[in-house]
Amino acid sequence: LVVDLNEKVSDVSPTMWGLFFEDINFAADGGLYAEMIKNYSFEFENPMMGWGRVEDHGAKGYVFNRKHEAAGANHKFLRMQRLNEEGNFGVSNQGFRGIAVKEGLKYTLTFIAKVAKGENLTVTAKLWDKDQLIGEGSVSGFSDEWAEYEIEMTSSKTLDGVGFQFLLEGEGELDVDMISMFPEDTWKGRKRGLRKDLVQLLADMNPGFLRFPGGCIVEGFDLENRYEWKKTIGNMEDREVIKNRWNIEFAHRTTPDYYQSFGIGFFEYFQLSEDIGAEPLPILSCGLACQFNTGEQVPIGALDEYVNDALDLIEFANGSVDSKWGAKRAEMGHPEPFGLKFIGVGNENWGPQYIERAKIFEKAIKAAYPDVTIVSTSGPFPDGREFEYLWGELREMEAELVDEHYYRPPSWFRENARRYDDYDRNGPKVFAGEYAAHSTTVSENFKRNNWEAALSEAAFMTGLERNADVVRLASYAPLFAHVDGWQWNPDMIWFDNLRSYGTTNYQVQKLFSTNPGTHVLSITQEGNSLAGENGLYASATIDENTNELIFKIVNTSSEPKQVSIKLDGKYKGSGTGELLEMADKDLEAYNSLDDPEAVIPLSKSIEVNKKTIELELKGQSVNVGRVKV
Ligand code: AHR
Repeated sequence: LVVDLNEKVSDVSPTMWGLFFEDINFAADGGLYAEMIKNYSFEFENPMMGWGRVEDHGAKGYVFNRKHEAAGANHKFLRMQRLNEEGNFGVSNQGFRGIAVKEGLKYTLTFIAKVAKGENLTVTAKLWDKDQLIGEGSVSGFSDEWAEYEIEMTSSKTLDGVGFQFLLEGEGELDVDMISMFPEDTWKGRKRGLRKDLVQLLADMNPGFLRFPGGCIVEGFDLENRYEWKKTIGNMEDREVIKNRWNIEFAHRTTPDYYQSFGIGFFEYFQLSEDIGAEPLPILSCGLACQFNTGEQVPIGALDEYVNDALDLIEFANGSVDSKWGAKRAEMGHPEPFGLKFIGVGNENWGPQYIERAKIFEKAIKAAYPDVTIVSTSGPFPDGREFEYLWGELREMEAELVDEHYYRPPSWFRENARRYDDYDRNGPKVFAGEYAAHSTTVSENFKRNNWEAALSEAAFMTGLERNADVVRLASYAPLFAHVDGWQWNPDMIWFDNLRSYGTTNYQVQKLFSTNPGTHVLSITQEGNSLAGENGLYASATIDENTNELIFKIVNTSSEPKQVSIKLDGKYKGSGTGELLEMADKDLEAYNSLDDPEAVIPLSKSIEVNKKTIELELKGQSVNVGRVKV
């Protein structure tokens, strides 16, 4: 192989390798959002979903759901009516597929309450390991006006599957709502914050961008249920709970208890992007509901509301504190702008209706914010059909970035490493916004994140990198999945209520995103790029800031390969470098909660001798090398 150090083929966008976030598989509620209480505001269709009654040792009482008198986003609350002072009376909560606690960690329970009848009422919260109490706290002094109360508890044990009870003591009636519990160890210790381990896995990837909030969830089953960013900011009482678009039967799984509290709303998405150094990339509804569901279309005459949502979002992110939406951002604690550079219009909307609407968005956004890059949506369809029509229209519109999605078998990824070699260099740029190799070796419905899938994605990604002049952003999808609450697989990061791990695919993504380089260099064999010849795939970049050559070579064959890389051009390096090698003889190998590091990259040193690097590549390996040049 020959790397030409003298000629930079193109730049690599600093946003090249990023993240796709969607609230699917309990990614937000039950996942990244560290709230531990399910249906905390009694707003699910069945207001008692997730809650149970506690009435033991002679206790007597009732629990009722009531409606708040004041109109607003929070409609219902719970009335606890206690008829005697014996035993335990109250409610329990299931959490999100259970509740997990850690020994010595503090948990803060908050709720709002008012007395409907009686005096000297006390609320006691309890954490149980079967019949052993492992945490407890109480509060009293309630009045007949709604007010917030807090209980702190420290767990004496680490346990997934803890029993949680919210008990009323004293005879009388207490109205309660917004019963919420968070651990103290959230990301950056923020109140009502995010799960630290999950954010850390994202931060470790050094992502170029964070796309949010999806996916199909942007579109909704119907327009009524689309993701409306304005309903996701401000106080939690103002964030109206809705049924999650993934609360459906999918791949023979149902999750009837999947709702969106919007505890992670648009402010939190921007804040998370900032925390992990990623460019925020919000995608908004273009007035078309999910085409896999109702496909409802807003009439063109009524599109203004949607277009204004986009314009207002840009003001929310970037506007001065004197603007209407900039002031709201400041009110939430972030007076400085978030520096939004991209906005997506629509997700997987494919017909002429899309183009009609996209043009209206484009005109309005560009008139007000000419520097914001618009992301448009296209194929290929998840089953592999291409969208010639849509691409033609988008080319004519001179679209800036087109979002392509592909969920295909591992072989497709290996065979399509040249996908972008022939893309029009003067046409729209590409955002490979959702992709994953779907290996069906376990079953049609359980597609494991195995080594074959990750290896094939790595092969394909060398093609993305070689074509970094066309492909400006890329993200694996979906990002997160709860092991007991998923609707879609494979997914990049899996977790339960205590633990989390990066799959083989995560490790591959991280290899690329932490070794991006600033410019593409050519790496060739007898003058040709390598995209599957003899099982080898290669790309190379240079990092202008550190003056390092970064090469990526994937060997998909089971045989080891002897490779020598000759450095052509000016070389002033030190003669040594590092190779990150990820390999497994078993294509079925995978990481798991119990064995999170079964397949991970290992570091080796490499040498440059007479401007040549000699490597023995293992069979079925991904190799990322860095050498000073
Ligand atoms: O990533 C899961 C789903 O796949 C996304 O919501 C959608 O955009 C795609 O069809």
